[in-house]
Amino acid sequence: MNRQTDFARTKILSILADGEFHSGEDLGQDVGLSRAAISKHIQWLATLGIDVFRVTGKGYKLASPIQFLDQDKILKQVASPDLVKLEVLNIIDSTNQYLKDKISELQNGHVCLAEAQTAGRGRHGRKWVSPYGASLYLSYFWRFEAGYQAITGLSLAVGVAITEALKSVGIDDIQLKWPNDLYSQNKKLAGVLVEVEGQMGAACDCVIGVGLNIDLSVQQNEIDQPWIDLSKIADRPIDRNLLAAKLIEHLVMAMKRFEQNGLSSFLEKWEALDLYWGKPVRLIMGNNTLEGIGKGISSDGGFLVEVDGNIQTYYGGEISVRAR
Ligand code: ATP
Ligand code: BTN
Repeated sequence: MNRQTDFARTKILSILADGEFHSGEDLGQDVGLSRAAISKHIQWLATLGIDVFRVTGKGYKLASPIQFLDQDKILKQVASPDLVKLEVLNIIDSTNQYLKDKISELQNGHVCLAEAQTAGRGRHGRKWVSPYGASLYLSYFWRFEAGYQAITGLSLAVGVAITEALKSVGIDDIQLKWPNDLYSQNKKLAGVLVEVEGQMGAACDCVIGVGLNIDLSVQQNEIDQPWIDLSKIADRPIDRNLLAAKLIEHLVMAMKRFEQNGLSSFLEKWEALDLYWGKPVRLIMGNNTLEGIGKGISSDGGFLVEVDGNIQTYYGGEISVRAR
């Protein structure tokens, strides 16, 4: 996209962000383009998952207003901003990829947030649906000097840190699903993707990505499982900048704790939030499945399942757990 196009689209969005009607003529005047050109740009906004509707005689309006991410507002609300280097991006393929592309330059606490992702990803290359301004798409960098063995159970600790951030803004009804998801009302609210670089026996560089749905007001046919967003859980509108600040603060604190004590200081909290504790579950491992009862997690982050009265432990990124 050239700079003029980017400027025009960003300007149109900033005008429409208030959620009020704006006529094509007024937008054209403000941006310095014809009504036809404005209409083309607005069609493009729809491809980012932005729900703009048009009413003859009134103009264009967003289905819901957008509160833009603001670097200063976020940093002002982080308890220890000196521990964080924050980048706020507009539209990006994937925040995890953005950090991975410059991983050798990064220091602990380097965080990036984006308004939209065009190739947001989950585990195993699955797609993370990432419409504009509707969620938080956050990635941060942390280097574990002690190497691979020091990151056992990292995604579980990150899950606990996210629930603590949510609690700090008054959102309580959250459960954790092994190994990387947050649920509410039995629907997926958020996911964690830890991507790792480094040689065996050397320090381990981690890019930790968090996708957290805030208000996916557009019909999301693209998500092929039940999902939920904070607008359906919280009793008041979510301030995205405050939530981003709390998320960053709790994630950085969690990494320091995790460096010191590993998973041990997160275990109790994880188990208290376990979506599948005592529930019938199915483990899917490639073409194989196993049925049992969820029994929490082991001290090294494995999934515990009771089968015929025996408790077995399962590890590994290839396993998916489902209710049955
Ligand atoms: P697993 O138990 O293996 O983690 P999963 O279905 O949660 O299974 P992930 O790779 O963790 O798989 O997450 C990607 C999946 O999450 C997608 O395939 C889709 O079903 C779902 N998904 C994609 N975008 C969103 C979103 N914005 N909100 C909720 N769920 C989403
Ligand atoms: C999952 O449930 O599998 C994890 C989803 C992780 C999505 C986040 S959004 C920010 C970061 N960038 C990505 O491309 N993915 C993660």
